[in-house]
Amino acid sequence: MVLRGHIIYTSTPEAYTVHENSYIIIEDNKVKGIYKALPEAYSTEEVIDYEDRLIVPSFIDLHVHAPQYSQRGIGLHLQLINWLNQYTFELESKFADLSYAKEVYPAFVQSLYDHGSLRSSIFGTIHDESNLYLSELIMKKGMSAFVGKVNMDRHAPDTLTESAQQSLEGTKAFIGALEKETLVKPIITPRFAPSCSDELMTSLGQLSIEKHVPVQSHLSENKDEIKWVKALFPLAKDYTDVYEMFNLLGKEKTLMAHGIYLDEDELARINKPQNFLVHCPISNMNIASGVMPVAKYMDMGIQVGLGSDVAGGHEMGMNKSIVAAIQCGNILYSQEKSHRRLLESEVVYIATKLNGRFFGEDVGSLEPGFIFDALVIEDKDSLSKGLSPIERYQKFLYGGEPSHIIARYLEGNAI
Ligand code: GUN
Ligand code: FE
Repeated sequence: MVLRGHIIYTSTPEAYTVHENSYIIIEDNKVKGIYKALPEAYSTEEVIDYEDRLIVPSFIDLHVHAPQYSQRGIGLHLQLINWLNQYTFELESKFADLSYAKEVYPAFVQSLYDHGSLRSSIFGTIHDESNLYLSELIMKKGMSAFVGKVNMDRHAPDTLTESAQQSLEGTKAFIGALEKETLVKPIITPRFAPSCSDELMTSLGQLSIEKHVPVQSHLSENKDEIKWVKALFPLAKDYTDVYEMFNLLGKEKTLMAHGIYLDEDELARINKPQNFLVHCPISNMNIASGVMPVAKYMDMGIQVGLGSDVAGGHEMGMNKSIVAAIQCGNILYSQEKSHRRLLESEVVYIATKLNGRFFGEDVGSLEPGFIFDALVIEDKDSLSKGLSPIERYQKFLYGGEPSHIIARYLEGNAI
């Protein structure tokens, strides 16, 4: 397959790579090469010519709550614990009923697709039927995701908790059900330490290692949450240690969302190739959680990812989260010069190539050798005349809407 257009990606944080009016050749689902002139082995008839349009890596949302899709914008005057107790837990309880999931999940999956988030790492709920239904919807769309059955056995209404045993059995069954799938894979998802007993976390850690299944959770998001975790786990050195104690961090590949208030010792322990701290700037602003010092983490070599955290976040478009990350970085920098500014290309790099790394070393860029996951961006209005491809991409990042995405490719296939 050969496509032609203006090809843009970030192979490093420092700068965009741009191939104007070039041909990108896809073989075995991967980028074989990018050429200014069509190589002789190919004929012009087989070129899918996107003309003056942009071909860019598709987005990846590394932290999103599917059941909260219908709650975007609601209850955001509260902070984390009250927001969960007064809004979120009640909403998520409704997914015990598959017919409720059938109202919400198709719209959620369609929205991921529309916004170009063709890969994601998703929290479902505790409810096994609804989680499987969500997974099937994603597969049917030809998209890729890690989907988590959420584990909770305490500190929530009875309608949103199970026994530790039930929660473990449900997780095993969910992992088993997705065992043969390639696009959608299971991820072990203890909601956060306060939702899970020692017994449950112990068994989930063992299961993760035994089955080589990755883990996702929340870490150090809100100051009251951190105090609560200290009180619940008096023997743990810090919040990070709680997950470490139960083999839920540092063993298999792990996504920890937020990670705002981590001390130097915690950061040093998190700084391993299998761990990702997922920045969720829109959520952090909405429920007044704080600001992740992203530049500092990047400079330490920590793998930072980016997530919408819908519905702490209200925006499905990862371009909106990219902009929010830049803006949050600007606020830190303007308040305290020891924080450097984030580069725009650096945040795009986080949202594509670093987020992609959670799916594999060859995901998240359009460099030769990478799996071809891409969006084609159409912005043919008179206001874009005379702008360079990078300027047009910048306009898409700041003001882009689903209607600007005219084609979507995952693993080399138009979807
Ligand atoms: N911590 C535990 N559960 C949640 C959740 O649903 N959203 C966010 N933002 N933080 C959490
Ligand atoms: Fe979250």
